[in-house]
Amino acid sequence: MQKEKPMNELPVMNEQEGIVLFHPHVPARAIDEVTNVLQSRWIGQGPRVAQFEKEFSKRFAGAGSSIAVGSGTDALHLAYILAGLKAGDEVIVPVFTCTATNIPFLYMDVHVRFADVDPETLNIDVNHVRQLVSDKTKAIVCVHYGGLPCDMDELHAVAKEFNIPIIEDAAHAPGATYKGKVIGAISPFTMFSFQAIKHITTGDGGMLTLQDPTLVSKAERIRWFGIDRSNKQKGTWENDITEVGYKYQMTDIGAAMGLCSLHEFDDILGHRQKLMEGYKKGLRGAQGIKLIGADTTDRTHAAWLCTALVEANRVGFMHALRNKGIESGQVHYRNDRYSIFGGRRDDLPHMDAIEDRYMVLPLHTKMTLEQVDYICEVIKQGW
Ligand SMILES: Cc1ncc(COP(=O)(O)O)c(C=O)c1O
Repeated sequence: MQKEKPMNELPVMNEQEGIVLFHPHVPARAIDEVTNVLQSRWIGQGPRVAQFEKEFSKRFAGAGSSIAVGSGTDALHLAYILAGLKAGDEVIVPVFTCTATNIPFLYMDVHVRFADVDPETLNIDVNHVRQLVSDKTKAIVCVHYGGLPCDMDELHAVAKEFNIPIIEDAAHAPGATYKGKVIGAISPFTMFSFQAIKHITTGDGGMLTLQDPTLVSKAERIRWFGIDRSNKQKGTWENDITEVGYKYQMTDIGAAMGLCSLHEFDDILGHRQKLMEGYKKGLRGAQGIKLIGADTTDRTHAAWLCTALVEANRVGFMHALRNKGIESGQVHYRNDRYSIFGGRRDDLPHMDAIEDRYMVLPLHTKMTLEQVDYICEVIKQGW
């Protein structure tokens, strides 16, 4: 099959030109809260970070704990260290995700084995995971693509059989649930991202929820060079550093923003889900296009991305939208296209089949349902 041409001629759109793909959500109160922090003694990691962790745990960690960090990528790297992964180990990871899911493994010299996508959801294909797993596998990483939870029961069954942890990348999925359980409380490690355009943003930031209480103080030390800060703050400090940590912490400036978004999280999530429903309704019966993950009943979608598969001519589709003032894009790409991961694989048939067909439609809190209706009407006119 001939590969489609790159879309260089579609530059990033600005808001004056129409409906943009993403827009950050910054609560009005955040401006005052950040100002308060800036006028206080703590602008780095201080009491706001501790409060953010506590409140985040209440909502997303079940009986577990939360560790606030400087990015979702930090949270993943920290999770991989806490899971005991080391050079030479092998992990099963999704091929279709942000590169951030897999790049920490390159620092750690951990060997990634890419699993294919489930073509119905674009989440990791559990059947392929089953084919790849072996005694060499030390962890399975899954990404709740777009905000739709993966098949967690099936993944946990594999993990249990091989006595290995599941690490969830929930960058897209705060507020999603799987069989009534909140994402963040299901697996030993779950990562969230607060990068600029996520449900909750701290500018950049992330959170790692942990279900094993014995890992919490280790996580806190590794987040800060390996130093036990609570000991350090007692005034005299004679402790050794016995673990290699890094600087993964969140600042109180970011935490002040995060707390404001957390306090209005129901509205943020509700608005996004309402827009997603609008797309579902508006595109029902539309020719040549199918929404991804629209028809699940045992899990709820956090509505970060509205992704569709177009039957043909994706470039034409994107141009038709752009001509009507609508931005669209791909957002993530198969990771094996990047040389750093060792080159393109030929054992991922589902990924091959959707690679030139998937695309992402605008979805953010600055949008209205009327705009979603307009987009659906434009799509129904064809391309
Ligand atoms: C699936 C996924 N994983 C990880 C990340 C990395 O998070 P961050 O940008 O906060 O480091 C992102 C996006 O940013 C993502 O979309």
